Amino acid sequence: MSGNPYQDDRGNKDRTITNTGGSEWTGAVRSGGRAERVNGDGPFLIGDGMTGGYGTGANILQDCTISVERGEIAVIVGPNGAGKSTAMKAVFGMLTLRGGAVRLNGEDITRLTPQARVARGMAFVPQTNNIFTSMTVEENLEMGAFLRRDDISATIAEVYDLFPVLRDKRRQPAGELSGGQRQQVAVGRALMTRPGVLMLDEPTAGVSPIVMDELFDRIIEVARTGISILMVEQNARQALEIADKGFVLVQGANAYTDTGKALLADPDVRRTFLGG
Ligand SMILES: Nc1ncnc2c1ncn2[C@@H]1O[C@H](COP(=O)(O)OP(=O)(O)O)[C@@H](O)[C@H]1O
Ligand SMILES: [Mg+2]
Repeated sequence: MSGNPYQDDRGNKDRTITNTGGSEWTGAVRSGGRAERVNGDGPFLIGDGMTGGYGTGANILQDCTISVERGEIAVIVGPNGAGKSTAMKAVFGMLTLRGGAVRLNGEDITRLTPQARVARGMAFVPQTNNIFTSMTVEENLEMGAFLRRDDISATIAEVYDLFPVLRDKRRQPAGELSGGQRQQVAVGRALMTRPGVLMLDEPTAGVSPIVMDELFDRIIEVARTGISILMVEQNARQALEIADKGFVLVQGANAYTDTGKALLADPDVRRTFLGG
């Protein structure tokens, strides 16, 4: 892409890319030595050329690729019904793919159940019903750690350090909290497994701009600890500002893929998806 003012940025400069097929992709998105992989050469997590739909219904995803590197923030944006949530479910193993693969740290996990993916370090905060409203804040965090057999108190303390208001409200039913605080509970619960990758589907839905900014700051803080973030966002402009990598999905397919900055600067993306 000539004339791109962000040549130094990480990310793939080919915004029309739809099927990345392994090694080409890796060279393009690899960030100067930051990724530490145990095996394989691909991104830390990739849903690669995913095709599939619900049950026996029509394909929703059409050769859709999304990925994230270790410790980076990848953001998926696109119109309502584009298949963003479906792509997240597919990566997490809640949808049977008819084509493509999901790989985590080089391992093909396409056939693994969501539970098995959690055991391998994936955590998912779905778009809706992502907390237990009748349980207290702390019980929600404890539920998040159900797979762990070790002492979880240090992780609970870390979650409270990240979201101090949750410490104050730890004995309150989560359903009594504000929308933004409930999202903190959902993110905190997901962090209880000490994941390597945190997947968030519209974490700022229904919260004020101030609460959104605050939550994005906390998400950046989580990424700085080395956890990968794969996030769907309807606040596309703000989310792309914090994204290392952005994926614009349209009708279940990749429309644009680039660094967050490059997408924000792209006239076509701005006009079509960011309101000018
Ligand atoms: N559980 C489901 N069963 C059948 N179709 C679904 C289901 N969830 C979503 N869809 C369909 O899949 C398409 C993509 O939806 P979704 O992934 O939720 O889009 P987005 O998250 O981008 O708004 C839509 O046409 C929607 O109607
Ligand atoms: Mg959705």
